Amino acid sequence: MRTQVAIIGAGPAGLLLSHLLASDGVDSVVIETRSRAYVEARIRAGILEHSTVELLDSLRLGHTLRREGHEHRGIYLQEPGTRHHIDFVDLVGRSVWVYGQTQLQRDLGQARDAAGQQIEYGVSHTQLHDLTTDSPCVTYESEDGRDQRLDADAIAGCDGSFGPSRAAVPGSAHQTWERVYPYAWLGILADVAPSTDELIYAWHPDGFALHSMRSPTVSRLYLQVPPETDVETWSDDRIWTALSERLGAGIDGWTLHAGPITDKSVLPMRSFLQAPMRFGRLFLAGDAAHIVPPTGAKGLNLAVADVALLAPALEALVRKGKPALADGYSEAALRRVWRCTHFSWWMTTMLHPTGDPFDEQLQLSQLRWVCSSAAGATGLAENYAGLPLRS
Ligand code: FAD
Ligand code: DHB
Repeated sequence: MRTQVAIIGAGPAGLLLSHLLASDGVDSVVIETRSRAYVEARIRAGILEHSTVELLDSLRLGHTLRREGHEHRGIYLQEPGTRHHIDFVDLVGRSVWVYGQTQLQRDLGQARDAAGQQIEYGVSHTQLHDLTTDSPCVTYESEDGRDQRLDADAIAGCDGSFGPSRAAVPGSAHQTWERVYPYAWLGILADVAPSTDELIYAWHPDGFALHSMRSPTVSRLYLQVPPETDVETWSDDRIWTALSERLGAGIDGWTLHAGPITDKSVLPMRSFLQAPMRFGRLFLAGDAAHIVPPTGAKGLNLAVADVALLAPALEALVRKGKPALADGYSEAALRRVWRCTHFSWWMTTMLHPTGDPFDEQLQLSQLRWVCSSAAGATGLAENYAGLPLRS
């Protein structure tokens, strides 16, 4: 098989890239190890930045999001006894949208179906070859067990944090940075109406808690837990009691509504970055190049921002033979990646107590400054609602 761009991974980065390329007249083939049902059911991120929504709108991919998603003006930040609203719209003129990654994944899948995009699910043994030539290729085994070879002008590694693309770059040609945090999140999905109109990020001496949501009838909540936590040790009762305590039951008469838990999992937290995001004709995008801890909801939005830069760079390279944008892709993408890496680290370290009394006082001092100072609140709002794309 031959195509212009071979895309490895049918997550948000891979599918959106194939969509952007097609709208620029560039052919691509997407390969994916998992089944389509698995990819579309994976519960992950839930917040879209302003510019992500604008991009989806501009591609006519925003209609379901506009109908089923929920626009939020800001978030609540709190310490025990005090809840404070940070209004992004007032501060920076931009909002965010609550819209599950599962829903976005489904929208992108349907849009690619409508355009006749070739996507192969269930592949295995993916390998990348000849990356430093003008004709790289990907080999893999198709779902029905046949060996396949996909020749291309360029390869987009959109295969997430465990895919083969990042590892195909020789050690001498890249640098990595990593921070592993000494805590994890226990995340639950529950069939109960959210107990809040906008997300609550709560600092608490027992550990951070976050009240998010997916719809008027589905809540998504998180608790800080030790990284080695066995999910079985957290009964539903224990989870609701801890959430209620940490999220501030009693603040101005507020209560947390409990309901049936439909999903429960532990998410490890780390920051990771590999640069450059290009090696020869291989271009990395999304989690394949960088991971952020979830606090601040940047992972999915960064993947979108990467491919918004990568698509025009690949179009210029493979259709017009002009390499300038491709040559500048990594540096341009990394500027935003490092900004979001810093913001995610900053939100994470501000809100997760580690048991060190000195650090806890610094966290509370920082939190109070953000809640009481226009400069502090504006900095958070600008980063959370997101910088303009391609900036
Ligand atoms: P992915 O969505 O990971 O897609 C990569 C795709 O590549 C996958 O479908 C994978 O199956 C496929 N693949 C892997 N190997 C191969 C191969 N060999 N061949 C072909 N295909 C391959 N972000 C937030 O902002 N908030 C959250 O709450 C949040 N929760 C998360 C929970 C989990 C468990 C995880 C893993 C991530 C979470 N994230 C969250 C991060 C966010 O979901 C990611 O940043 C986002 O999915 C990145 O999109 P992507 O397309 O780059 O990677
Ligand atoms: C969600 C996850 C986040 O990491 C976050 O900061 C906000 C919301 C969510 O899954 O809804």
